[in-house]
Amino acid sequence: MIIGIIGSGAMGAGIAQVAATAGHTVRLLDQTEAALARAQQSIQANLRKLAEKGKLTGAAVEAAVARVQPTRDYLDFSDCGLVLEAIVENLDAKQQLFRQIESTVSAECVLASNTSSLSITSLAAACQHPERFIGIHFFNPAPLMQLVEVIPAVQTRPGLANEIKQLLHAWGKVPVLAQDTPGFIVNRVARPFYGEAIRLLEEGLADAATIDWATTELGGFRMGPFALMDFIGHDVNYRVTESVFTSFFYDPRYKPSFTQKRLLEAGYLGRKSGRGFYNYQEGAPPPEP
Ligand code: NAI
Repeated sequence: MIIGIIGSGAMGAGIAQVAATAGHTVRLLDQTEAALARAQQSIQANLRKLAEKGKLTGAAVEAAVARVQPTRDYLDFSDCGLVLEAIVENLDAKQQLFRQIESTVSAECVLASNTSSLSITSLAAACQHPERFIGIHFFNPAPLMQLVEVIPAVQTRPGLANEIKQLLHAWGKVPVLAQDTPGFIVNRVARPFYGEAIRLLEEGLADAATIDWATTELGGFRMGPFALMDFIGHDVNYRVTESVFTSFFYDPRYKPSFTQKRLLEAGYLGRKSGRGFYNYQEGAPPPEP
């Protein structure tokens, strides 16, 4: 089956790598050439690292890299069996995208979104054939994280969720079925993790490095909340919080923070822009708890 992926940022590139390594031809589309070039470079670099560690042969790496075909043209999705989007976390943008691509894919093609928080049912509702629509939510970095949430919309045809779960098993993932509620499972549980950490910071009780140090060294978390938000990207993370907050009818438990909003406004998006809660620019002193 040929897989189409729209959006070649952190998630789209990672998912393309997973599908190509599993043997699929992948048509990877982005609105910018620069993003496509970055994605190809990162896929190549990641796979070559695996070869250096002896986890893949050199031939397998080159074959997987060659299976990822960059494109700017929706018509290249005409022979895809599954098209998954990983563009900006915005309902209008995603709905508009699905309206556009539905006429260019085959009748059998499954359409999916990697959204972290938006309603799968309202994305499906933008399609003429909502029964073929489903949420497939990977975690970052997609090649390393095993968990994938599979979220049927109200309109999704019976049986599709199981077909997607089987596909994900074949990709070496651990799929879990989630209901179509804001943030699904993990992103809902994670909201208070980020929110309380920012509140601690705002109240001046500890700085970011100390909170991260305490959660990782003492709490056993793999990453602290600030390092994790910087890794995810504040554009993505803030929009997810905003979406979960509004979708839960402004429940204060999920209220977004001004501190994070200001980072976003300043263009301090985290690792990807060189600055977030921490400074990743060359020569910057490492944070000390
Ligand atoms: P990103 O900002 O790294 O990449 C988004 C890409 O989409 C960019 O390359 C951009 O040029 C492209 N794009 C935007 N609009 C487009 C359009 N209309 N057509 C074609 N390409 C378009 O974002 P990231 O982090 O990859 O997130 C993408 C999606 O995945 C979002 O819905 C996000 O909520 C979700 N997600 C993000 C995670 C994360 O940790 N960053 C984890 C799991 C899901």
